[in-house]
Amino acid sequence: MKLIDGKQTAAQIRSELKLRTASFEQRYGKKVGLAVVLIGNDPASQVYVRNKITACQETGIRSFAHYLPETVTEQETLSLIRSLAEDDNIHGILVQLPLPEHLNADKILSTIPAAKDVDGFLAENIGKLALSEEGTVACTPLGVMELLKRYQISLCGKRAVVLGRSNIVGRPMALLLLNEDATVTVCHSKTQNLKEECLRADILVAAIGKAKFVTNDMIKTGAVVIDVGINRTDDGKICGDVDFENVKEKCSYITPVPGGVGPMTIAMLLTNVVQAAEKAQCRNIY
Ligand code: GUN
Repeated sequence: MKLIDGKQTAAQIRSELKLRTASFEQRYGKKVGLAVVLIGNDPASQVYVRNKITACQETGIRSFAHYLPETVTEQETLSLIRSLAEDDNIHGILVQLPLPEHLNADKILSTIPAAKDVDGFLAENIGKLALSEEGTVACTPLGVMELLKRYQISLCGKRAVVLGRSNIVGRPMALLLLNEDATVTVCHSKTQNLKEECLRADILVAAIGKAKFVTNDMIKTGAVVIDVGINRTDDGKICGDVDFENVKEKCSYITPVPGGVGPMTIAMLLTNVVQAAEKAQCRNIY
């Protein structure tokens, strides 16, 4: 069994990005910029946003943080996003989810121009992914693909099984694997014979949000197991959707939790921001 080290890979990506942001600044006389919008007081969202802003600082990206109160109106939110959309110093706009209930997330997100949608959440970007066209891809599934690529795990003709069909992970994950010529099955809460589906997987991606759900009896010997889950056990420890200790000897490769896919999500967000900035400048020049 080989461990896939997401922490080290993410650090490597950040150091590569630092060179790109420095070269951008030298060429265009301004920094790569990311606007982060956080609405309300959700503690988990506050931690995520803080981590994203710290990661920007480390990579030479200028961050513009906007903290709005829980009571903000839809009009106020939309007008902030419109002004960020027009600002040439801002290359990416990230609205941290979930939003308070009185705000219409679809309406707010669709105010972000596709070129600044560094989360890859807009219909336009998901449509491009579905058509195998170039666009921005959601950070977590993109991070999984980057790990597979850097560990030289081939996908062509392999059976890939994705557990979970969320808009943020499962669906884009399945499309990315399909675009790399894997034979893809998506399993979800209504899937029958889940264990048999999993047992066929050469590559199994677990993204269902259930602690230690994937066990030894669901894994084919030699499978690559990618764990997207971040769950908390009763004793307060972080664990994935895969029962790591129980399955590890059966896998060829496995991602740990923490230290696997998690650190890659922010690394790919930063990658999407730098790419959006480079593309925006190319559009200005030609
Ligand atoms: N909330 C949970 N994950 C994410 C993410 O990747 N992006 C945003 N914007 N909000 C989230």
